[in-house]
Amino acid sequence: MTTQGTRPETETPGLTFPTGFVWGAATSAYQIEGAVTADGRGTSVWDTFCRQPGRIVGGQNADVAIDHYNRYRDDVALMADLGLTAYRFSVSWPRVQPDGAGAINARGLDFYKRLVDELLGHGIDPWVTLYHWDLPQALEDAGGWPARDTSKRFADYAAAVHAELGDRVRNWSTVNEPWCSAFLGYASGEHAPGRREPGAAIRAAHHLNLAHGLATQAMRAQDPASRIGGCVNLYAISPATGSDADLDAARRIDGLQNRFFLDALLKGAYPEDVLSDVAHLTEGGFIEDGDMATISAPLDMLLINYYSRFTVSGAPGGALSAAAAPTDSGSPWVGSEHVGFVNGGRPVTGMGWEIDDAGLYEILMRVHEEYPSIPMVISENGAAFDDVVVEGAVHDPDRAAYIEAHLRVCHAAIEAGLPLQGYFAWSLMDNFEWAWGYGKRFGLVYVDYETQLRTAKSSALWYADTIRRGGLPS
Ligand code: NOJ
Repeated sequence: MTTQGTRPETETPGLTFPTGFVWGAATSAYQIEGAVTADGRGTSVWDTFCRQPGRIVGGQNADVAIDHYNRYRDDVALMADLGLTAYRFSVSWPRVQPDGAGAINARGLDFYKRLVDELLGHGIDPWVTLYHWDLPQALEDAGGWPARDTSKRFADYAAAVHAELGDRVRNWSTVNEPWCSAFLGYASGEHAPGRREPGAAIRAAHHLNLAHGLATQAMRAQDPASRIGGCVNLYAISPATGSDADLDAARRIDGLQNRFFLDALLKGAYPEDVLSDVAHLTEGGFIEDGDMATISAPLDMLLINYYSRFTVSGAPGGALSAAAAPTDSGSPWVGSEHVGFVNGGRPVTGMGWEIDDAGLYEILMRVHEEYPSIPMVISENGAAFDDVVVEGAVHDPDRAAYIEAHLRVCHAAIEAGLPLQGYFAWSLMDNFEWAWGYGKRFGLVYVDYETQLRTAKSSALWYADTIRRGGLPS
C-alpha cells in the first residue's frame, strides 16, 4: 500500500463515540475476490450475468476484480494500518458449496478460515455476511430465489459455514440487502440473474426473508452465543408534494423498499397495504404457515445500509434518479411502476445519489420508535466519486465529508439514546460495482486495476485519524 499526506496530530475529539463503538469498513466477495475458478469454486449467477452482452458497463466482469483472494494478507495489513476495529466481508456461497447443495468444498472454506485468522491476528473483529448476491448458478437453474427450496439450501450452507467459523467469528449477518437481490435481480433485471418477472420478484423477496429466518434458526441451534442480524438497505423517503398522488407514491415505495423487510423481520407480518399493491402479481399466495414466525425469530441486531433519500412523485415519467440503471432494464417497483422519482435538489455523489445525512437520522429514529428496540449497526455507508491519482496520491475530500456528515448523525443518534453500536464504511477498497463495473469507485483505498496497487486516499487517512481519536471535532 502507498499512503500520502501527513496525518494530523491526534487530538481529543469534541464528539466522542462510546467505548466499544465498532469502527469498520465493508466489502463483499464477488466485488473483490477474483480467483473465480480457484480451489474448486463453482459458478455464481454473477459470473454468468457478466458474460451476457449488455449487462455490465463496458462488458466488464469480476474474474480478477481486485485479486483479494491472493492478496488478503496485504489487505488485512492495510486495514490494521487504518486502525479498523472490525471488517465486514461476505463468504462466497459457490466457493464453499459449488452447486449450492451437498458436499462442502473444504478448499474454498479454508480461504475464509485463513482470512479470519489473519484478521484476528491483527486484532480486527471479523463480521461475516453469508450472502452478498452470488447465488450458485446451479440453484438459479433450479428456479433461483423465486423457488422456495433455495431458502432451505441457504440454511444448510449457512450452518456449514457457521459450524466451521463460529468458534472465531461472533458477529453474523444473513442476507445483504434482500431488496436488491429480489427486485433488481428478478424485476428490473439490472442485477443477476437479470430476470424481469414482477411476481417472481415478490416470491424471491419472501424466500430471501425466509432464508434469513431459517439460517438464523440453524446458527442459533449450533451456538446461541453467536450475534446474528439481518441486513436491510433503507432509504429516507419523501413525497414530492403533499398531493394525494405523491403521498400514495411515497407510501408505495416506502412499503416495498423499507417496510416489506422491516415488518417481516421485526414484526412478523408483511404490511397489508403492500400485499394489496402486489396482490395481482401473486395469485395463489406465497406465504406458508409458520413462515412469518421463522422470519421474525429474535435478532441480536439490525444491520442497516444507508446511502440516500428518494423523493417520490405519483406522476409517471419522473427520472429514476436514485435507482437509475446503467444498462437497459425494467422497473424494480413491482405493482407501482407508475411512480416517479424526482430530484430533491441536494448535491449528489458520483452515482447521482443525493447526499442526505439527515435522512439517516430519520431512518434510525424510525426503526427505533416503530419496531421493538433492537441494537443497530450501520453496515454500509459511503459514496462513489470520480477519484484521480495525482503524483501518486488521491485527494477525495468529498468522500471524507460524506462519511463525516453521516458519522455526526450517528453520534447524534447515540446521544439521543439509540442503541447504535457501530459504523462500517462502504467500501474499504475500490471494487466491482455490479452493473456499473469498475467505473464507480467507493473505496477509502484506491485500487489501480492494472497493477493492483492499493493507495490510501485522503479519506482513508481522515477515517484512520477519526478512529484513533475515537470521534470527531465538535
Ligand atoms: C450496497 C451493496 O451492498 C454493495 O454491494 C454496493 O457496492 C453498494 N451498495 C454501493 O452501491
